[in-house]
Amino acid sequence: MYTVPKLDDYSPAALNRAARELKSAFESEAAATSAETEWKSLRDRWMGRKNGILTQLNDLWLKSAPGPAKREVGQRVNELKKIVEEQIDATLSRISSASSSSRLAQARVDITLPGTRRKLGVEHPLIRTMKEIVGVFKAMGYSVAEGPEVETDYYNFEALNFPPNHPARDTQDTLIIAGQQGRPLRERLLMRTHTSPVQIRVMEKQPPPVRVVVPGKVHRADTADATHSPIFHQVEGLAVDTNITFCDLKGTLDQAAKAMFGSSVRTRFYPSFFPFTEPSADMQISCFKCDGSGRLDGGRCGLCKASGWIEILGSGMVDPNVYGFVNYDAKKYSGFAFGMGVERIAILKYGVDDIQLFYQGDVRFLEQFA
Ligand code: PHE
Repeated sequence: MYTVPKLDDYSPAALNRAARELKSAFESEAAATSAETEWKSLRDRWMGRKNGILTQLNDLWLKSAPGPAKREVGQRVNELKKIVEEQIDATLSRISSASSSSRLAQARVDITLPGTRRKLGVEHPLIRTMKEIVGVFKAMGYSVAEGPEVETDYYNFEALNFPPNHPARDTQDTLIIAGQQGRPLRERLLMRTHTSPVQIRVMEKQPPPVRVVVPGKVHRADTADATHSPIFHQVEGLAVDTNITFCDLKGTLDQAAKAMFGSSVRTRFYPSFFPFTEPSADMQISCFKCDGSGRLDGGRCGLCKASGWIEILGSGMVDPNVYGFVNYDAKKYSGFAFGMGVERIAILKYGVDDIQLFYQGDVRFLEQFA
């Protein structure tokens, strides 16, 4: 490896030789250098400020030169410095710009590639059906209310005219919250079995006129199978005003049935019983699959079990006893109420054969609603 010699002969010939030796030493070192890190150590060895070879030229050649030779030596040292510095600087800047442009090339993004698409989610068929039902009534001027799923005995039963120990309570398969025997019956908590308690909550808060629909989740002690689920959904409706008659009930629900199932469906009302309505009626629609004939493709229609009719909701005129619980004047006001199961309507509309499909979250089922 090249080391800077001391000079004692400052004749032009000796200076030429020393300069040639240095130049060729540098050239052969440069020729053996390629990677950027190698060039950097070459730079430090030759151009290092404190003890680089070029600095040594100052000390060993220039400072020790006799007065008359100084000018000549100085010029040669400058020439050599220039050669070395220019080559090192030029090479290093070429290498570093090449490596940064190759980094850029690697990081390049091809904006013409198709990109990763995320599948769009869709509303769950039950939510969609529930919103659709609510929308039908909103269009008729109804507002929307909600209430708690953990309810008191009072709202779920007593104020709806189910007296304590009345057998009508048995129809509700109620899930009771444990450990409340110490409380008065009406304060005991249970999972609401229907959305009807919200009727009471709404009437407690506002005087007539009332027109409200109540979507929500309800609970019953039912074992899950193809047609039952311990948790399901209902939409409740209530209209109270002066001069509301059974005709209003029929007209409103007939209109709603046509909006939900198509304008050609007909409706009919069958006597029924609910403690909070009197009279009560179940509404049936003409089967939209066989158009009420009960026959399909030369056989019996499976949807309406050949009857031509499908039951879709319970309804009735609000029992005056209920008004007593909310301080409405039963002589002045009348009204009707109705309640329907969202699952049942979705099952009918979409031809679903197992209610459990709504709760399993299987995309193969759900994506059919996209
Ligand atoms: N709450 C009743 C049920 O769940 C349905 C209903 C609501 C009936 C309103 C009449 C009026 O069975």
